[in-house]
Amino acid sequence: MRARVAARIVGREDELDLVLAAVAAGRDLVLEGPPGTSKTTILKAITAEWGIPLLFVEGNADLTPAKIVGHHNPARVLREDYSADNFVPGPLVEAMERGGFLYIEEFNRAPEDTLNTLLTAIADRTIAVPRVGTVTAAPTFRVIASMNPYDNVGTTRLSTSVHDRLCRLAIGYQDEPAERDIVALRAGGAEGELRTALVADGVAVTRATRAHPDVRQGSSVRGAIDTVLVALQLAELRGIAGPGDDRYAPTVHDAMVVALSGRIHLDEAAETTPERVLREIWEDRFVLTPAAAAPG
Ligand SMILES: Nc1ncnc2c1ncn2[C@@H]1O[C@H](COP(=O)(O)OP(=O)(O)O)[C@@H](O)[C@H]1O
Ligand SMILES: [Mg+2]
Repeated sequence: MRARVAARIVGREDELDLVLAAVAAGRDLVLEGPPGTSKTTILKAITAEWGIPLLFVEGNADLTPAKIVGHHNPARVLREDYSADNFVPGPLVEAMERGGFLYIEEFNRAPEDTLNTLLTAIADRTIAVPRVGTVTAAPTFRVIASMNPYDNVGTTRLSTSVHDRLCRLAIGYQDEPAERDIVALRAGGAEGELRTALVADGVAVTRATRAHPDVRQGSSVRGAIDTVLVALQLAELRGIAGPGDDRYAPTVHDAMVVALSGRIHLDEAAETTPERVLREIWEDRFVLTPAAAAPG
């Protein structure tokens, strides 16, 4: 079973084992890591293999308990009065009844009363829904929460009772070879010298956004995927066949601005712009160390 799940994921063997062990042990879990670190990919692979649903909810200030539990259809309530029959289940009730994983991204942003509703479901495996009755969780029901460690809505605001009920796994960025494999897999395109060079360059410049001193949070692997996809299109429009072309490096720069400028979050104190940061990263790779840009 583990091998079949692993076949859907590039790398991440240790993280997969730990998540699998926790959910197989019947535990609920918080995954703590920045965006693009395979959290959703791992959960999709496990739930697909188990044949159970994966329900997504985004944690934010508007996520009321009613939104995750469900509501009565107002038009039908007017006609028929409240009944279990005109109840529209929310993702929590649906996950409990169908034995799915409820995946709450950025759950530290959810309001206190919503967290309390979740805690009840986690601790009791049942919840009481007014005018419907008691909903009991199927055995494979799990709550998986995620948190971005760079989020400035502090994870410290979560009460000890929340932390005390969840296992925790910290997930960092992939290493460079794994990130290249992911981008090569997701960024399609005809294989060849151009694509190989773009994958290596797209991954390198994206990773550099995470290490730049003026950046609080750099781009995820999604930025690298988009850099490659945009650059491939630009190369075709401009008739660039490979990395040996003089216009190759400027084309990577153009793609970086489109794919990455909206994805890097500068330090509040930094007196620069995303475009300037990207220019520096590009110069580091293509101008100051021209060897890196050489064909092959
Ligand atoms: N280990 C991986 N194997 C294959 N694709 C991956 C992997 N990690 C990330 N991806 C790809 O990168 C993107 C972001 O990954 P995702 O799992 O959604 O990250 P997260 O949920 O941590 O934000 C998706 O397009 C996904 O297909
Ligand atoms: Mg995700």
